Amino acid sequence: MRDSFGRRIHYLRLSLTDACNLRCVYCLPEGIRFRPSAELLQDDEVLAIVRAAASLGIDKVRLTGGEPTVRAGVVELVRAIAAVPGLDDLSMTTNGLLLRELAEPLARAGLRRVNISLDTLDRQKFFCLTRRDRFDDVWAGIEAAEAAGLGPIKINTVVVRGHNEEDVVGLARLTLERGWDVRFIELMPLGRLSEFAADGFVPSSETKARIEAALGPLLLEPGNDGQEAACYYRLAGARGRIGLISSVTAPFCQRCNRLRVTADGRLRLCLLQDAEVDLLTPLRSGCSFEELRELIAEGIRHKPSGHRLAEAIHPQARAMSQVGG
Ligand code: 5AD
Ligand code: SF4
Repeated sequence: MRDSFGRRIHYLRLSLTDACNLRCVYCLPEGIRFRPSAELLQDDEVLAIVRAAASLGIDKVRLTGGEPTVRAGVVELVRAIAAVPGLDDLSMTTNGLLLRELAEPLARAGLRRVNISLDTLDRQKFFCLTRRDRFDDVWAGIEAAEAAGLGPIKINTVVVRGHNEEDVVGLARLTLERGWDVRFIELMPLGRLSEFAADGFVPSSETKARIEAALGPLLLEPGNDGQEAACYYRLAGARGRIGLISSVTAPFCQRCNRLRVTADGRLRLCLLQDAEVDLLTPLRSGCSFEELRELIAEGIRHKPSGHRLAEAIHPQARAMSQVGG
């Protein structure tokens, strides 16, 4: 289905929970309260939304959080989502902590690929950024994901001044030996953390210059077709690619193809704007499949043209962990 700006909307990012087993400083405000599970979409409600979305032309679903793997019964839910007709890509964005145990069962249940968030290769800095000492678990999780065939592996790194802006070099160096995509993401201002994001912001141009100064020129990859959020480069002779996701300095809104559903059942039309459509209440008051489908279609028709960070309009209602990135 197309929105009112002619963009084909065919990608759904579905949050399975707002809870997380890390506490990344740029994502989870100190003292955040997770929603009780009764306030979250139940499995049958998730499936109803995925079916309705698929019937409107959604063919690609990414499971997000919080941390999607902490949802009880995640493997069975993945199996059920993978079986929905019309989907040809099912992936997950995860912090990797639980992948050592879950990569294999998730792959068998029908998950195709994972993006794993990792901001540094330094154990101490990992602790500072995530407030948990779990670097080794994440690393084991990445290897387990690769072994389970959940590749090509993508690593997502949010660059934060004062925390990891120098660590981009070590992460970029990984692509020399591994066929992974390592992607550097500009810090985005959400909710109560928008001031933090302003102080910690590092533009992609600076990250690129830092990598090039240490490792040599980044060669633009052929096939950057604008369908992806990242612009891809490669170091000479490298096995993997380096991606820059410049959501703040070079928004890809004009090419946006996505919808989001939050774990509490709100259709979110733009990551960085607060407008939402409540799907949970209608679902719980027994709406029909047709009515659910129409609510989603109506949301797509009202999808905003883009975010308004340049006008200093920041989304306030939710933390990133409550949207899913
Ligand atoms: N800006 C950019 N990316 C963020 N993420 C979490 N918070 C932010 C933020 N403020 C990223 C995580 C993960 C994905 C779910 O979103 O690191 O890669
Ligand atoms: Fe958890 Fe991801 Fe947020 Fe970190 S960025 S706290 S891993 S949801």
